Amino acid sequence: MSGEVPKASRESRVQLGQMLVIGGIASVLGIVLALLIDWFPVAGSTQAGPIDTLWDVLLIVSVPIFVLVTTIILYSAIRFRMRPGEELMDGPPIHGNTKLEVIWTAIPAVILVALCTYAYVVLVDIEKAQANSMEVRVVGEQFTWTFFYPGEGDEELASPQLYLPAETAVNFTIQSKDVIHDFFVPAFRMKVDAVPGIDTHLRVTTTDRLDEYPVVCAELCGLGHSTMRQTAHVVSQEDYDAWFEELSSGEAAGGAGGGDSETAASTDGKELFASAAQPTACGSCHTLADAGTTGTTGPNLDEVVPDRDEAQLRQSITEPDAEVAEGFSPGLMPRYGESLSEEQVDALVDYLTEVSGK
Ligand code: CUA
Repeated sequence: MSGEVPKASRESRVQLGQMLVIGGIASVLGIVLALLIDWFPVAGSTQAGPIDTLWDVLLIVSVPIFVLVTTIILYSAIRFRMRPGEELMDGPPIHGNTKLEVIWTAIPAVILVALCTYAYVVLVDIEKAQANSMEVRVVGEQFTWTFFYPGEGDEELASPQLYLPAETAVNFTIQSKDVIHDFFVPAFRMKVDAVPGIDTHLRVTTTDRLDEYPVVCAELCGLGHSTMRQTAHVVSQEDYDAWFEELSSGEAAGGAGGGDSETAASTDGKELFASAAQPTACGSCHTLADAGTTGTTGPNLDEVVPDRDEAQLRQSITEPDAEVAEGFSPGLMPRYGESLSEEQVDALVDYLTEVSGK
């Protein structure tokens, strides 16, 4: 029996070596693969850089651990599987290995503490208050975002679109009217929950990149969650000033911002109905043959509109919960009286009256 021991230990050392070699190769391949994947959209804020770097570091550290553990499991399952005739055999008894246990507790602990410290430092750094930051209040509701800009005195100007000047620090205050939403602009890499009853905050500094980025809701908030999308326009300071001028002069009544977005200030009923850039993406919830939409979250407009007069239609758009069609839930449709101008509501009513049921 004593002659068996060196042979067995030599064999297990060979097995360990094989596992480490396979694990090492797999780790390198895993890291290369993970870093090759384009995880994020284009970066639109100064916060994006540190966050993308943090992400890459997390990948570099965690991929080898995952690959190593998986390799050992797969190797062991194949190499030490039960063979015919071994059904009643048992492996050698193991009584624990203090050295090994200390090592596999200490290494993950050190890695975790290091990564948490790094992530904390990054977070504190990107959330640092900036001098001269502009304030924007963001209000979420089922299923739209509205952006409020400080006007003269205590006045606030509402806009269904987010406009920001380039290279500007923005301090967002996020609120919710109903359920929990989550304000997220993927290009900015920053997101935070909009919680009823409390204010949450987010700091973003735009880069010199002039572009349009999607604003999304990142918290399941009801049937229309996926339609809770708007656009963040990062424009030059001149364009921003022009847009803000328009917003405050009331030209873009109700806050439907102008700028370079034609549909935002549109008074064309069909355009308003269909435009996904607007919070009035009506078709995502309503069926209307003329617009080619097939939404079923709200009533079929081809069926219900012909039975209603103009006043009822106007009320259904501006105060949808005043009277809810049978079989549908209140609180699902946003009150468009707050984000659309009277002209725009009229245009929608005219359009619906004209085309519904045809
Ligand atoms: Cu709001 Cu999801």
